[in-house]
Amino acid sequence: MVVKIYRSARSLTKKVCDVKKQGKTIGLVPTMGFLHEGHMSLIRRAREDTDCVMVSIFVNPAQFGPKEDFKKYPRDFKRDFSLCEKENVDIVFAPKVEEMYPENYATYINVEKITDTLCGASRPGHFRGVATVVAKLFNITMPDIAYFGQKDIQQAVVIKKMAEDLNMSVRIKAMPIVREKDGLAMSSRNIYLNLEERMQAQSIYKSLKLAKELFDSGERDSGKIINKMRKVIDKQSEAKIDYIKIVDTKGLKDMKKISDEAFVAAAVWVGKTRLIDNIILRQRPK
Ligand code: PAF
Repeated sequence: MVVKIYRSARSLTKKVCDVKKQGKTIGLVPTMGFLHEGHMSLIRRAREDTDCVMVSIFVNPAQFGPKEDFKKYPRDFKRDFSLCEKENVDIVFAPKVEEMYPENYATYINVEKITDTLCGASRPGHFRGVATVVAKLFNITMPDIAYFGQKDIQQAVVIKKMAEDLNMSVRIKAMPIVREKDGLAMSSRNIYLNLEERMQAQSIYKSLKLAKELFDSGERDSGKIINKMRKVIDKQSEAKIDYIKIVDTKGLKDMKKISDEAFVAAAVWVGKTRLIDNIILRQRPK
């Protein structure tokens, strides 16, 4: 099957209207490219669930801070495109920055409160950029279902909230984290790590697994769990914790005592690379 590439929002929306007229459902996988197995799992799920699978590839400048890695963010369109071909993607939307943000562009979406914590606190403006571009992608592609990875757990929560608050008729599916053999969560940014950093980065998932073990054996005091996690990561010379937090799964508020369910979320600098990961703690039904 031939994958069609669209660069223009208007022509893609025209195509979307034709697809809808045929009664077909649309699955959207928004990405910034440099696709990995995590993305592939979303694409495969979209292929299973929907008739027409669209993948957007757009490194969105609005979600990067002025000192962040927008310029050096890895890009390889040819490789991404052939991966999409292999997975029978129907349409790739790969707009230029000017297509998404023409001169005098002025409209942004701000999801309040849940963006004040975790990555939102460390990366001011990040979720404003994410929510804005995702809303634009939803308007352009009118998906029935859109797929996001749980690695970016706050992003998934923010997008669900935006879709709910703005009455967007799209279902948001957050899909499980895909990990490397050594446990490191898949991320396009893993390419920045050298061998030593790559080894040290394993401590992030080790610490999350420790949190789960502690929870499963009855510990409910977040402070105690976080302290033990810190010790695992602090042993690594190249690792510097940005945050480790235990928060409720809806409002992302800090939980001192964990009740039935919580996210443990961590952001850690390993050398010059900021990595994020998380795990869900859930009480087993009695
Ligand atoms: O998760 C990402 O790759 C990006 O934040 C997204 C959702 C494609 C928006 O640019």
